[in-house]
Amino acid sequence: MSQPQNPKQAGAIGEPLSALDTPCLVLDLAAFERNLDRLMQSVADTKVAVRPHAKSHKCPEIAKRQIARGAVGICCQKISEAKAFADAGINDILLSNELVGSKKIAAALSLARQLQARSGQLTICVDHPQAAADLNHAAQAAGLRIPVLIELDVGQHRCGVADPRASVALIDQVHRSSGLQFKGLQAYHGSAQHTRTQTDRQAAIDQACHLITRVQRDAAALGIDCATVTGAGTGSYLLEARSGVYTEVQPGSYALMDVDYGRNDWGLSDMPVFENSLFIHTSVMSRPDDRAVVDAGLKSMSVDSGLPVVFGRPELVYQKASDEHGVIVASTQTGQPGQPGQPDQPNELVGRLPALGQTVLLVPGHCDPTVNLYDVLHVMDQGVLIDVWPISARGLLF
Ligand SMILES: Cc1ncc(COP(=O)(O)O)c(C=O)c1O
Repeated sequence: MSQPQNPKQAGAIGEPLSALDTPCLVLDLAAFERNLDRLMQSVADTKVAVRPHAKSHKCPEIAKRQIARGAVGICCQKISEAKAFADAGINDILLSNELVGSKKIAAALSLARQLQARSGQLTICVDHPQAAADLNHAAQAAGLRIPVLIELDVGQHRCGVADPRASVALIDQVHRSSGLQFKGLQAYHGSAQHTRTQTDRQAAIDQACHLITRVQRDAAALGIDCATVTGAGTGSYLLEARSGVYTEVQPGSYALMDVDYGRNDWGLSDMPVFENSLFIHTSVMSRPDDRAVVDAGLKSMSVDSGLPVVFGRPELVYQKASDEHGVIVASTQTGQPGQPGQPDQPNELVGRLPALGQTVLLVPGHCDPTVNLYDVLHVMDQGVLIDVWPISARGLLF
């Protein structure tokens, strides 16, 4: 008797893409693997370690493939997310984020114990003396020593300590805390990632390096080595990797890519081309005269970084999304989308629209929050479903 199919699974192994139910999330395995390889090749002549951010994919199978290619471990943003990866066998996890509150600290210590028991580690970021003291006391009470990075605000103005003197005071505090083990600096410049030009990204990372080296120098004067300097995302990682300051990079989106990253002007001639490997497979469910209405709307994708694009079909424009629907129109010769409901939309444009029941692939505007909407990734090889990978950490927000 055949196994009952997972109700979240859009089709059976061996079926072609056209047979998968919609909307569903698909991964082009070949493009995805090229992305993983290209990233590792691009840093091969540097000394940096690669620790991809798993918040982009939330999928242990992807993390395992990244580690198999030489990544030293992964980053996670949430402790419950990290636990899902640890349970799936990932040993070395950096929580590249702050951890506040007794419940989260208890969960982190329990996870640290789980990982240390198998020679792994959970490293945690701290940016406040109170957070460092709370983590230290809890770790001491639990008989644990937790590796810690001090997070610097290198320009994003999110978490992190911006003032070099306050950073060094916190480094000194952590260094003297017996429940903590000071490892170095978390220095992620998030806003540099989607800064469109290479020149502006370089300026942002130069500024980050300036702050980091000042903090390193002042800490060294106290006899403390900031041995690890980690940060960087897909948009800038090659700059950090070549800076001589960073020892580790944390790109995440490169494995999947999205419309927003597609808007960067990469500039560097040797910057690898990362391909779109992540798509939403969607069907035309209604076909009024001048538009095609697909079954992937706001509940199927995140639009915080803009609407999706129709993959490989520049003549089609995904124009608006509602909860369960997306409206696709044909683009005019000026590259502007036609307006649904306008009777003068030329017939030849309307003729390009997909027919009722036809499917298209959408490239999501922003990969991370889109992946978080789905339970599984449908892995396609040459147009055939070959595997289904659980997105085990989806929805894990604690
Ligand atoms: C701390 C940290 N590191 C790395 C990344 C990875 O960035 P990207 O997905 O743009 O490569 C992120 C993403 O937001 C992040 O917050």
